[in-house]
Amino acid sequence: MEKKEQLYEGKAKKVYATSDKNLCIVSYKDDATAFNGLKKGTIVGKGVVNNRMTNMMMRLLEKKGVPTHFVEELSDRDTVVKKVSIVPLEVIIRNVSAGSFAKRYGVEEGIVFDEPTIEFSYKNDDLGDPLINTYHALALKLATKEEIELIKKYAFKVNEVLKEYFLSLGVKLIDFKLEFGKTADGKIVLADEISPDTCRFWDVKTNEKLDKDRFRRDLGGVEDAYKEIFARVTKGE
Ligand code: TMP
Repeated sequence: MEKKEQLYEGKAKKVYATSDKNLCIVSYKDDATAFNGLKKGTIVGKGVVNNRMTNMMMRLLEKKGVPTHFVEELSDRDTVVKKVSIVPLEVIIRNVSAGSFAKRYGVEEGIVFDEPTIEFSYKNDDLGDPLINTYHALALKLATKEEIELIKKYAFKVNEVLKEYFLSLGVKLIDFKLEFGKTADGKIVLADEISPDTCRFWDVKTNEKLDKDRFRRDLGGVEDAYKEIFARVTKGE
């Protein structure tokens, strides 16, 4: 399968048309941004890590009953996916306090929750992806009630599967962001990526950050963190 015209360029990926109207090719870049594009940089090798890691996670999740957009890995950076219209909601699951949760509620990072939490942001760069509740999402017709229920169910299932998987690699899954899409035949599937860009990973023993927070917070060792988490996920392959 070959890339045809470019359909879209995002902050971290490009999307191309293919000869099949129901399929696209996603191409992962090394570009990194934070704070809605205010901070810009390059993380060498990130595109390869995020592409290959996302595909491994999508395959695992399909096996566990979560439908995804994944079709076929073409190369280190390129993957065939089902063409979807993205539901403009960022779905965030948290197991441990960190990031905007810690800031918003004035608590320290690292508090382990009894139950995972879920929240939604309205995916809209001009507005800075504001937090949104499901009633507002319905009012704005971003999705139907049934779709939101299904998205919630899938998101918690993803958490169950990935939490256990990463723990087996000596990694705590602190929180993550998912995006869902609707296929041509109206099916809700997991889309976008599952990578150190979109998850917080802390080493079980040292709590060392193995994710994009190293870039967001200028902690140094950004490339090494991506390499380390990738080494752990590929070890068991
Ligand atoms: P937050 O604590 O900054 O709200 O981030 C929660 C999770 O979502 C974290 O794992 C990082 C991820 N995330 C994204 O994937 N994209 C984003 O634009 C932001 C702000 C967070």
